[in-house]
Amino acid sequence: MSACSYPQPIYSLDKVPLIPLPSMVVPSAEVMPLDKIQSIRTVGADEKLISIALNFKSFWKKHTEQELLLLDDTADGDHAITLIIDNDFSPQQEAYKLEIASDEISVKGKTVEGIYRGLKTLEQLVVLSKLQGKSNFLSLPGGEITDQPCYAYRGAMLDVARHFFSVADVKRYIDLLSTYKINFLHFHLSDDQGWRIEIKSWPKLTKTGGQTQVGGGEGGFYTQEDFREIVKYATDRFITIVPEIDLPGHTNAALASYAELNCDGKATALYTGIKVGFSTLCVDKEVTYDFVEDVIREISEISPGPYFHIGGDESLVTLEEDFNRFMDRTLAIVKKYNKTPMGWYELITANIPEETLLQYWAKTEDFSNVIPKKSKILISSASYNYLDMKYDSITPLGLFWAGYLSVKKAYDWDPKTLVPDLDAEQIVGLEAPLWSETIEDFDDIAYMAFPRIIGHAEIGWTNASLRKWEDYANRLGFHGPLLEALEVKYYATTEIDWK
Ligand code: ACM
Repeated sequence: MSACSYPQPIYSLDKVPLIPLPSMVVPSAEVMPLDKIQSIRTVGADEKLISIALNFKSFWKKHTEQELLLLDDTADGDHAITLIIDNDFSPQQEAYKLEIASDEISVKGKTVEGIYRGLKTLEQLVVLSKLQGKSNFLSLPGGEITDQPCYAYRGAMLDVARHFFSVADVKRYIDLLSTYKINFLHFHLSDDQGWRIEIKSWPKLTKTGGQTQVGGGEGGFYTQEDFREIVKYATDRFITIVPEIDLPGHTNAALASYAELNCDGKATALYTGIKVGFSTLCVDKEVTYDFVEDVIREISEISPGPYFHIGGDESLVTLEEDFNRFMDRTLAIVKKYNKTPMGWYELITANIPEETLLQYWAKTEDFSNVIPKKSKILISSASYNYLDMKYDSITPLGLFWAGYLSVKKAYDWDPKTLVPDLDAEQIVGLEAPLWSETIEDFDDIAYMAFPRIIGHAEIGWTNASLRKWEDYANRLGFHGPLLEALEVKYYATTEIDWK
C-alpha cells in the first residue's frame, strides 16, 4: 500500500474524545497507519512491564487483527510500540507521555503504573477511532500527550452486602473502571444484611450471615481464594482493593451468626430490609475484640493494599463514649496489622491517628466536625458521588434521600471547593459508592454507574481548570458506542447527544 493510500485519521490528536481529558495534547501533522506497527518493545524490562505489554498485545490483536511481536531493548523502535521506564521522567508515579509518530509509538513513565495509564489512553484512541471510522484500516493522528492525575485516590465503592455480586461481575466492573483510570475499588464486605467474606476462625459469619440479602434472596460470599483472585485481577489493572468491615454498627449479619457478640448473649434474626442504624457490637465484651482482631488479621493477610476500612457510620445505637472506646481499640488492631485506617467521617470523634483517611459522605456539605482535625479526606458526598441516587424522578432503580443526581450534576463540581473552609491539601481524592439496596445484578450496576462514574473518573484525573461541562458532554457522547461494544447497559440520558 503506498503512503498516500493510507486512510486519514478520524480525529486530530487534540480532538479525540478521550476521557479523562489529558493534561496536555500537542498534535502533529504526522499520521500513523496502524498496520505499520509490528511489535511491542519494553525498555527497562521488569516482569510487570512485560505483563502489561502482553495484555496490550491481546488488545491489539482483538482490535486490529494483527499479531505483535514482543521485543526487548536490543531491537530498535521502528514499527514498534515502545514502553519505556524512565525514573527521571516525572516525580509523579502515574504520569506518562504518549508519542505517536509516523512509524513508531512510545509510552514513557516513571513507573509501570504510569505506562499502564498511558496504554489506557492509547486503547481509547484506537477504540474511539475504530468506532467512528467504520473500517479496520485505521490511522492514528500524530502528536504527544503528556498527562498525570490531579488526585492520587480515584475510587469506586461496591456494596456487596445488601446484594451479593459474583467474582465475574466484580471483574467486569474492574475492567470498566480501569478504562477510565480509576485506581481504587473499595469493597463494602459486611452490613446488617450480609457478611460476604470467609473468615476461617469464625466460619458461621458466612455460613449463617452470608446466606441472605435485601429482599430475602440467596446472598453469597467470597471465599478467601475468591478474594485473592479479585485482588490479583485488580492489581494487574493497577487498582488497589480496599476491604471494609463496617463496625460497630451495621453488624446484624455478624450478630445473627454468633450469639456471644450480643450483649444479651442471644443471636439476632437475619435481616433483609433496608433500615439502618439499629445494630451494634457489644463494646464491653472481650470476645468482641477477639472477633475484631481475627477478622482484621485474616483480611489483612489477603489484602496487599495500604488501607483497612473500619466503617464507623450510622452507629446510632452505640453511645458516643462506647463508640470512641471501641474505635480506639479497633484502630490499634488495624495498626498492629500494618494497615492505614480508613473510616466514614463519623470516626472523627475517636482518637484517630493522623494518617487516618476519613471518607466524607454527608448529605449536606457541613463538614464542621472534621475541619478542625488534620486528617486526610476522601470526598464521597452523597449528593454528588453516590451512584445509587436516582438520576431523576422516573429512574426505576436507586434511592433519593440525598436528592436526584443527574449526569451533569455528578460532573460539574470541584472537590476542592465543595466544602467551604476545608483545606484542599487534606483532600486525597474522591470515591463514588454504589450502595446496593435496589441493585441486584450487573445490569443494575451498569445502569446506575454508567455514565456517572465516567465523569467522576475525570474529576479525579483532570485538573478542574481544564474541565468544562459542554466539552465533557460532547466527549461523553462518543463513549456510548464504546460502552455498547462492551455490552454495558448504561443510562442513555437525554442530557447527552449520544453518537
Ligand atoms: C453511608 O452512606 N452510611 C456511609
